Amino acid sequence: MRKWWKEAVGYQIYPKSFYDANGDGVGDIRGIIEKLDYLQDLGVNLLWLCPVYKSPMDDNGYDVSDYYGIAPEFGTMDDFRELLQEAKERNIKIIMDLVLNHTSDEHPWFQAACQESSPYRDFYIWHPGKPGGKEPNNWGSFFTPSCWEWHEPSQKFYMHIFSKKMPDLNWRHRPMREKLYEMARWWLDLGVDGFRVDAVAHLERQWDLADSSKSGHGPYREDWGKFSNLPKVHEYLREMHEEVFSKYDIVTVGEVGGDAGIDAALNYAGPGSNQLDMVFTFDHCWMNRGWNSYESGWHNRTDLYWLKQTFKKWQTGLYGKAWNPLYWLNHDHPRVMSQYGDPENFPKESGKMLATALMFMWGTPFIYNGEEIGMTNPNYEELSDYKDQSTMEKAQRLLDAGHDPKLVKRYIQTTSRDNSRTPMQWDDGAGGGFGSQTPWIKMNPNYKQVNAKQQILDKDSLYHYYKKLIALRRASHYKDVMVYGDFALFDEFHPNIFAFTRHYQGMTLLVACNFFAETAYLGLGPLALKEEVASNYPDANVYEGTLCLRPYEAVVYELKN
Ligand code: GLC
Ligand code: CA
Repeated sequence: MRKWWKEAVGYQIYPKSFYDANGDGVGDIRGIIEKLDYLQDLGVNLLWLCPVYKSPMDDNGYDVSDYYGIAPEFGTMDDFRELLQEAKERNIKIIMDLVLNHTSDEHPWFQAACQESSPYRDFYIWHPGKPGGKEPNNWGSFFTPSCWEWHEPSQKFYMHIFSKKMPDLNWRHRPMREKLYEMARWWLDLGVDGFRVDAVAHLERQWDLADSSKSGHGPYREDWGKFSNLPKVHEYLREMHEEVFSKYDIVTVGEVGGDAGIDAALNYAGPGSNQLDMVFTFDHCWMNRGWNSYESGWHNRTDLYWLKQTFKKWQTGLYGKAWNPLYWLNHDHPRVMSQYGDPENFPKESGKMLATALMFMWGTPFIYNGEEIGMTNPNYEELSDYKDQSTMEKAQRLLDAGHDPKLVKRYIQTTSRDNSRTPMQWDDGAGGGFGSQTPWIKMNPNYKQVNAKQQILDKDSLYHYYKKLIALRRASHYKDVMVYGDFALFDEFHPNIFAFTRHYQGMTLLVACNFFAETAYLGLGPLALKEEVASNYPDANVYEGTLCLRPYEAVVYELKN
């Protein structure tokens, strides 16, 4: 079924780092308003804003202390209304992050809940713990070794699967759920066009609280299985859909994250699930050993075999049943240019190749701010330049455990969430055009070479290439096949080339992307090329049924029937 959000091109904004209009070093809502023309020019028409709610900013806004207020560093509710209005005038829709798993410990609900007699007590999860003042179980959180924090005044622990300043909400408690539904309706009534639902897989816990076997990965163990994708999550989401989402023409994307397969995704967003429109999974994000090569040192080469298998799984597994969001990175991941591109030797070619792969797959693309100009990880020399709580926790833990500080630094440089949170590089002037003051987090020094202004002037830039592909997707002869066509890998086991076809109602496209710096060849077999749709080199290179793809070359052809 056709839907506006299937045909949209999304763009994720990390407000703190996008544009600082009032010069206090922190990006803000007025900054987004000022850059709406830039976004309209680029051609995107669906913005996902990371949280702008009132927050003590322990986790840059994911720790909400007032769901109905705007953080003063980001602006005011009037600014937000103006943003909605200005966006609407440009036919740009806006979805907000909706944080349902936890609040800040500074939220009035939690403050009240600290009193045992409070009607808000059951909004959160409390437990007396084991004899001897021990945690109720051994579950870890995403940010800390234990997901339990002792609360001295009430002599109980509370649960937090993220930081200890983010106590988990108790979804078993209907009055709490009603409050969240009311809040979500309030934003929809204000005019937002949907939500990216944060950490949605975790709303339910395994309530026997049995110890976990601690089989996780990463530098320390996480116990996802005990609070991820449990059956009851779907009941809650169906309820929320019934009471909130179904009443509006909106789009909802749930962050389901790692370890969820096709079946899990279909449970959330499949036919008749009546929960969400699509889910973000992370499977394709760490296919270069950036994450798990910590023990063995770095071999930062894209594992194209698994990357292709992963895309095949999601592209074919959901086709005709559900819908995929497409993205290379979000604010929790390193820059894709540093993950799968070659920013040193082939920045333009590899950036365009990655854009081609993303924009020609099946689903709704979400470009992450700065991706369109090829921003990279900053590789800060000093650990103290990193600001993210979870990054700092991890680094400290690894150092405490006696790991080689050089390796720890490399690990952080490669994996930190701050990699994607450095200020947007608007121009090559002082401070990269982000704002007049020293930004809250250090600018990536490569802003002199990599910035929006320079790329807007250069017709051959990555920015202009993104713009072209966005235009193809939104309105062109190829729109339907790009948006609605099916996906099939071509030459599935080619070691260097990611090639696939897209087919829709009599039209077929072939997309071929060389993921490496060595020239590679793709035999076309029975396929006959009709017309070039896109390419990142000035001239194509086809001889007698073979595509010759130079370093990071990407081509798209319409095929003859
Ligand atoms: C999600 C967000 C992440 C945040 C966490 C807790 O994973 O993407 O940035 O830290 O939820 O809200
Ligand atoms: Ca500001």
